[in-house]
Amino acid sequence: MIKPYGSEDLNPLFVYDSERHHELASEAENLPALLLNSAAAANAVMLGAGYFNPHKGYMNLADAISVAESMATTEGLFWPVPIVNVTQDVQAISGAKRIALRDPNVEGNPVVAVQDVEAIEEVSEEQILAMAGKIFGTTDSDHPGVATFTGLGRFLVSGPIQVLNFSYFQQDFPDTFRTAVEIRNEIQERGWEKVVAFQTRNPMHRAHEELCKMAMEAVNADGVLIHMLLGKLKPGDIPAPVRDAAIRKMVELYFPKNSVMITGYGFDMLYAGPREAVLHSIFRQNSGCAHFIVGRDHAGVGDYYGAFEAQEIFDQQVPEGALGIEIFKADHTAYSKKLNRVVMMRDVPDHSMDDFVILSGTKVRQMLAAGEDLPQEFARPEVAKILMAHYQS
Ligand code: ADX
Repeated sequence: MIKPYGSEDLNPLFVYDSERHHELASEAENLPALLLNSAAAANAVMLGAGYFNPHKGYMNLADAISVAESMATTEGLFWPVPIVNVTQDVQAISGAKRIALRDPNVEGNPVVAVQDVEAIEEVSEEQILAMAGKIFGTTDSDHPGVATFTGLGRFLVSGPIQVLNFSYFQQDFPDTFRTAVEIRNEIQERGWEKVVAFQTRNPMHRAHEELCKMAMEAVNADGVLIHMLLGKLKPGDIPAPVRDAAIRKMVELYFPKNSVMITGYGFDMLYAGPREAVLHSIFRQNSGCAHFIVGRDHAGVGDYYGAFEAQEIFDQQVPEGALGIEIFKADHTAYSKKLNRVVMMRDVPDHSMDDFVILSGTKVRQMLAAGEDLPQEFARPEVAKILMAHYQS
């Protein structure tokens, strides 16, 4: 199996030893506490799960700026997006060396992790905006990722963490949430050598389904890891439980048995397009996948990114050999009315755009809201039915 990113072995920050876990949980109850925002809590979950290997905790300001500017830490480790704990108010943890990080997304705000505070640094508005500009390629506050990032606060709390739980993800998605450790273990148990990973935040339609099948065939994979985002999304995106049900139905009916692992990870969507695609690839490498699918407008939103910018970044800005995982670059995929099957546009140069069945996300939402059936060329009817039930409820 492919090695993790940045180290020989995967080092998840979750405390697996039960005695140590118990001690830490007791200690945490008496530590000065910081109520996290959702972005910092999601970072803790990703660090705990091994997805952000080899990082040990939250970055300091110099590293965050360096990562935003040049996609490398001050020590030179290639990394595309700062892993930060930015907060509004540090009064409660002033002078503390060790703090309990409380979870904003679970009732009662239980401790999600314990942090050794290395530094509390004030970040200027200019620095936040400069980082946002680099990460998202824009400082437009209409961009949902920029709006979140620039609204987190003005203090950056850095230092290593030890993670006590996986927030709401394990409880809310027991069949789907998996850590990178669990995915590696399951790949091994299945006896798979070569796995191709598919990122998604949407229900999967026929183009997505075919994309997975094409990629599997092209790289001669033993299986595909469908790895869906389970964290927070912008308004209008389909909620994770509905998407999960739709994907399960599609896999059950339209994929060969035992060719797919349906899994999810606990992170909030950044909508950072190219930078997020690189982050996505790294945490799939940490999950034991040798290949990763990047298609059209990967992790995009609105018109902020070019359709294939998230592929170009791998050629233009990722240093040679920095990543172990290989990118399967997919062209725009759609149903061909001429051939009566889903195709990748680059494979059918004789087609014009009118030869394809293409529906925008907005159009799909409008149709479902109006109770109109989605065309069978676009969505599997069993999947469409699940989405319709959600829209009509
Ligand atoms: S994403 O934000 O998670 O990237 P989405 O779930 O829509 O959004 O896409 C998942 C993956 O499928 C991404 O790699 C995306 O580029 C790719 N993709 C989605 N639709 C198409 C399509 N019609 N043609 C090619 N690639 C696509």
